[in-house]
Amino acid sequence: MTAQLIDGNALAAQTRADVARRVQALKARGVTPGLAVILVGEDPASHVYVRHKVKDSEEAGLHSVLERHPATLPEADLLARIDALNKDPAIHGILVQLPLPKHIDAARVIESISPAKDVDGFHVASAGALMTGQPGFWPCTPYGCMKMLESIGYELRGKHAVVIGRSNIVGKPMAMMLLAKSATVTICHSATQDLGALTRQADVVVAAVGKRNVLTADMVKPGAVIIDVGMNRNDEGKLCGDVDFDAVRRVAGWITPVPGGVGPMTRAMLLVNTLEAAERS
Ligand code: GUN
Repeated sequence: MTAQLIDGNALAAQTRADVARRVQALKARGVTPGLAVILVGEDPASHVYVRHKVKDSEEAGLHSVLERHPATLPEADLLARIDALNKDPAIHGILVQLPLPKHIDAARVIESISPAKDVDGFHVASAGALMTGQPGFWPCTPYGCMKMLESIGYELRGKHAVVIGRSNIVGKPMAMMLLAKSATVTICHSATQDLGALTRQADVVVAAVGKRNVLTADMVKPGAVIIDVGMNRNDEGKLCGDVDFDAVRRVAGWITPVPGGVGPMTRAMLLVNTLEAAERS
């Protein structure tokens, strides 16, 4: 058996086209969705990410503002900038790129963003809304994973989903989204004993650890759906995920590649959240 690929590039392109259409409809009513992206410091990966976010936004017809600040920016100044953006009617979404320099309390910064503009879905109010089934913004990566499952018409009700990783950004919200679709959810992490025994029971595995080969072929039930959130480099410096892709694809039913899987969908869901923030405003 060779797994079918879930093509994140194609689904993201469709999603962006749909956002662009809805942006035009909103503009016709006099509202241009606006996204502010704040970058503090010189982390090279963060620079690449924010450039992509701004480029995607502009291509979809959104208004986007990139604010760059030196790594020495005092926390109080950053909080003051966020306060101004919270009050700015042209801005519907605010994203502060992480990681932040060590002298800045990232939790305090995230909590200073208005929940109505929290398009990253990192605010405690967003996490609480997801947990309790209230309207709110869902974090882009797990939200994109759900869209990928939806794109193959996968029925989660009653299925066993195993999430590997318990971060606030991916693992925990992913588990909540799967649970909301009536999957039976197991969250695994670094202290889990016999990970393979659990993943072998899984109809769906989401690997979100940030380490190569966390999921190998012997750990996968034939026909399972494998979603790979990892972004790592192999020994040749090539991008790879958390899943041993070449071996696992011979066992799984569906699998997301890296690159070209979850990554493009994460970017697309930021546009969806920003558009929805503007639609709700
Ligand atoms: N750093 C790495 N990924 C992300 C993300 O999705 N949002 C923010 N704000 N920072 C990040």
